[in-house]
Amino acid sequence: MTPASQLDDTLLRCIGCEAITSVAESGLNCEKCGDLLEVVFPHPGIVSEKLEPAALRAIWKERRSSPLPQDQSGVWRFREMLPSLGKELPITLREGNTPLYELSLCSRITGVRQLYAKHQGMNPTGSFKDTGMTVASSFARKDGFRWVACASTGNTSASMAAYAARGGMYSLVLIPDGKISWGKLSQSLDYGAVTCQVKTDFDGCMRVLNEIVKHKAIYVLNSINPFRLEGQKTVAFELMEHFDWSPPDHIIVPGGNLGNSSALGKAFQEMKDLGLIARFPRISIIQAEGANPLVRTIREKGGKELVPVQAETMATAIRIGSPASWKKALRILDATGGTVEQVSEVEIALAKAEIGADGIGCEPASAVTLAGLKKLVKQGFVKVNESVVLVLTGHVLKDPDFTLKFHRGDLFTGTAYEKDSQILKPRQRAPIVLDASVDAVLNVLEQAEKQN
Ligand code: F0G
Repeated sequence: MTPASQLDDTLLRCIGCEAITSVAESGLNCEKCGDLLEVVFPHPGIVSEKLEPAALRAIWKERRSSPLPQDQSGVWRFREMLPSLGKELPITLREGNTPLYELSLCSRITGVRQLYAKHQGMNPTGSFKDTGMTVASSFARKDGFRWVACASTGNTSASMAAYAARGGMYSLVLIPDGKISWGKLSQSLDYGAVTCQVKTDFDGCMRVLNEIVKHKAIYVLNSINPFRLEGQKTVAFELMEHFDWSPPDHIIVPGGNLGNSSALGKAFQEMKDLGLIARFPRISIIQAEGANPLVRTIREKGGKELVPVQAETMATAIRIGSPASWKKALRILDATGGTVEQVSEVEIALAKAEIGADGIGCEPASAVTLAGLKKLVKQGFVKVNESVVLVLTGHVLKDPDFTLKFHRGDLFTGTAYEKDSQILKPRQRAPIVLDASVDAVLNVLEQAEKQN
């Protein structure tokens, strides 16, 4: 990232050597040791009275009834907690302010009586990425960049392409060829991104992008970008508003590149520092068995060094073998007393159908949360009388191919999971082809009643 920046006074801290730099002086990694950077909070120039808990709660609530775009955004509504854009207006699609649902069927299945889903898939482009993208893309524009880019498993690219279009910037998308859902790919195309299907995996796309930025002034909008994580913090503020500032016992998130879990943890840390909350919820991270670098890093190396893996999972959004933000995520697990777990492909498919049967639905990557919760309850890490929030990261329509195959019963045909997948049968609801006759339909209804 090169254009001369006349950015504000936001400071960045290296998560490794703790060196502090101004935004104008730094790229996305520490100049001294190469580690990732994070935005320093509180931001210089904010007087402490402005961060007084009662005043903050009141102004955040009040903004919900304002007609201004920056107040209607569920991200910028919390702008006291974000780096400042100065006089510039943000690029916003009115992201955030997503619903928190009670999950009654999933509650019966897991035994957890207070079980909620915070549905980040209800954001404008259908995933949690929008909350980070509004902030990072606004800073890209403020900083004078004409091009933004990302490597992606689909959701980041869809989100980036939309915000770049709204902000009048060109966007470059690098996605692994054949390994993302059509739903996500088609979004980038419609929003006008230069979309490249690169013959490699996500980690390979990331490597290519890291080289490209050495040759051209392009602002990287992956979650190594510290401004992305600032926006993604706001889901935690919304949750605390909902719970009247008393955190739930557990929050469970999927883990891919591990930016989202890091953002969530940073938000709770900052709320605790300001006295907005008195204690942490335990934040736990769930990965797919075939894309489990964090689980292995902890179990095999005690968290001391990353164990990269060759990632393989049908939950393509989290098909990531070398997560950039693993150190940030470890800090969050430590600080909040959370844990990591991995779940199988069949467990993910079942959990996705169960969230669907609760009338909510989500994409496969988001369903690892429920699959993981079942395991954590069995292990006694989550008690059934504790409150649990699952963060559903993407919308059910993101991967209709997966859903159709699931219900037709051929998701696992010809794979090593075929035998295990028999347990999915009771949740399968294949479309029924019928003659155009009343009797035929009535007959189907009768059978459906017998089945339930
Ligand atoms: N859930 C969904 C739906 C995602 O799209 C992603 C990441 C994650 C969970 C994992 O979040 O990376 O912050 O740990 N998707 C990225 C992308 C990597 O390119 O869209 P994370």
